[in-house]
Amino acid sequence: MNKLWAGRTEAETAKLADEFNSSIAFDSRMAKQDITGSMAHAAMLGAKGIITAQEAEVLIDGLQTILDDLKTGALQIDPAAEDIHMFVEQVLTDRIGNVGKKLHTARSRNDQVALDLRLYLRGEIDEISALTAQLASVICDKAEEYGDAIMPGYTHLQRAQPISFGHQLMAYAMMLLRDLDRLKDCRRRMNVSPIGCCALAGTTYDTDREMEAEALGFDGICLNSVDGVSDRDFAAELCAVLAIEMMHLSRLAEELILWSSWEFQFIELPDAYTTGSSIMPQKKNPDMAELVRGKTGRVYGDLMGILTVLKGLPLAYNKDMQEDKEGVFDACDTAKMCLAVMAGMLPGMKARRDRMRRAASEGFINATDLADYLVMKGLPFRSAYKISGALVGKCIREGKTLETLSLAEYREASPLIGDDVYTHIDLGVCVQKRTSAGGTSVQSVEQQIRAVRSRLEQDDGKDD
Ligand code: ARG
Repeated sequence: MNKLWAGRTEAETAKLADEFNSSIAFDSRMAKQDITGSMAHAAMLGAKGIITAQEAEVLIDGLQTILDDLKTGALQIDPAAEDIHMFVEQVLTDRIGNVGKKLHTARSRNDQVALDLRLYLRGEIDEISALTAQLASVICDKAEEYGDAIMPGYTHLQRAQPISFGHQLMAYAMMLLRDLDRLKDCRRRMNVSPIGCCALAGTTYDTDREMEAEALGFDGICLNSVDGVSDRDFAAELCAVLAIEMMHLSRLAEELILWSSWEFQFIELPDAYTTGSSIMPQKKNPDMAELVRGKTGRVYGDLMGILTVLKGLPLAYNKDMQEDKEGVFDACDTAKMCLAVMAGMLPGMKARRDRMRRAASEGFINATDLADYLVMKGLPFRSAYKISGALVGKCIREGKTLETLSLAEYREASPLIGDDVYTHIDLGVCVQKRTSAGGTSVQSVEQQIRAVRSRLEQDDGKDD
């Protein structure tokens, strides 16, 4: 194939080298961004008189036909092309002739590829943010449904204190809100335009970078041309943001897997998001949750990959940087799939209130409340803690629970105890009493749900 960049070389490149060098297989997904970027570039060249207004129009019209034909399928990406930038420019010149050769004035593939990637990832952030908000909203719905379902809250995976299932679920909504914040922040830093940095040093043409940036929806321009073509922070940062978000999804997935196990039986996942076993008829496997957990590893790998590619690179552009794309694309694709699957699966999740409550009543998780009761009766917390601990020990030895101890047994441990103790250690009361801000009481969980929903609505309006 005739190479647009064949300047000083004479001999043909080896076929193997061409294959090795090519990125069209993965960068063709930036076709739309490449074309819109080129349209803005042509418009700027025309406006500044670097090419004539008429030439700019011919370029823009030609680019539009390419965009349209790619959309309808009338034009196919040539897998033998070196990359998407070369492909578009070649097709353009084939279609409109010599004017096509003017498009690449005052730019280089180095600023072009940086531009395309920023534009593409900016769109990905918007999609991922929408999916994240959708999942957070599904979680709010579930938390509302189960705001009064009592389960054991755990520390060290040991039953700790009673909480509502809604409260536990809302913890994940909070994580997703932080993910939304991080995505927004990452987008803001990403949204500056590198086009016009050219190969690395800027250009002698009288260009207007701000004009081009504005036309493409950027908030500003990269202020140093060497940095503009060398910077891939935005891709690494997005991988990092997604790695954290996947970590959150993975923790949720892990809990869904545990809770749906025969040992817990706290939840049942919808049939539509589980699989059976080809040999064991009794099985209902949480494959989707397991895959979310497993795919988290890929996204961590994508982050490590891009950081490692960049760490030793001298300024400015190096071909190593072509390796920036597949990882971050994979991270975006993976995160989007996982978010969509979680948001699809959770509405059909059913909690087994009876199982949760039974587990909550079997682990002495109201022992703290018994100690708090004694504090209320006048004991210092440490002494109250001792008495409550001793009573738990007695229950374990004698196969009883705090609820089934007689008043006489209680009074033997402390004469301060009266028969109001039974209300105080009732699991429902224990949950309901935790009215501190952010606590597990029904009202507090409702307040959390309101807060998250109003944040999601705000973000929907795309404020800043
Ligand atoms: N395909 C290349 C990449 O993804 C485009 C930039 C090529 N620039 C160059 N100077 N060879 O990085």
